[in-house]
This record gives sequence, structure tokens and C-alpha cells, in this order.
Amino acid sequence: MEGFKKTNLKASDVKERQLVKTEVDGEEIVIANVKGKFYGIYAYCKHEEWDLSEGELIDTKIKCAGHGSIWDLETGKAEFVEPLEDEPIYEVKVINGYLYVRRKTNVTEK
Ligand code: FES
Repeated sequence: MEGFKKTNLKASDVKERQLVKTEVDGEEIVIANVKGKFYGIYAYCKHEEWDLSEGELIDTKIKCAGHGSIWDLETGKAEFVEPLEDEPIYEVKVINGYLYVRRKTNVTEK
């Protein structure tokens, strides 16, 4: 469990196909439930900062409600008309009914 931080969300708070925003240590994260598996991604789009929890969940991707960029929850990479910086993504675990997150390290940061 090293490096995982507890969120204020229970697993039951994020229903299948839902996007729910939470905050851990001042970092806002959107949790997605895809067929019972949880994913985490930084809450704001790297394009113009729209809230990704307002987006549409399509399989393991989120379509931003702003201008339609598509974010892959497994890689943090975007599909868009222009290149966008990767989004931080998070591993999500359920421990005693609560969701815990740990930032993945395979994301390139500037
Ligand atoms: S703010 Fe997300 S696509 Fe523009």
C-alpha cells in the first residue's frame, strides 16, 4: 500500500460509468468506474482547464466537455487536434471500502 493516499470516497460513491471528483493533499482527481475497475486522472483538462468530471466517459477514456479532447485513463495521453501535455493519472485501490490513490510515475511532466 506504499504511497497510496486515502480519499474521502467510498467505492460505493462512484457507480459504474460515473465520474466523481475528489481531493487528496490539495490535488483534485477525477475517479472513474469502468465495469467495476477504478481509474484516476487529474481533474482539469490540459487544454483550457475544463473540469474532466463534467466530461463523458467512453470505455476507458474521458471526452472533455470543453472542446472534445479525448483522455486515455490508462496512459494520461490525449487525442486532440493539437498536441497536449499528458495528464497525471493515478492507480486506485479499494481498502476497507474506501478509495485510495497513488500517482503513476509513467507520466512525463514538464
Ligand atoms: S478544455 Fe478540454 S478540450 Fe478544451
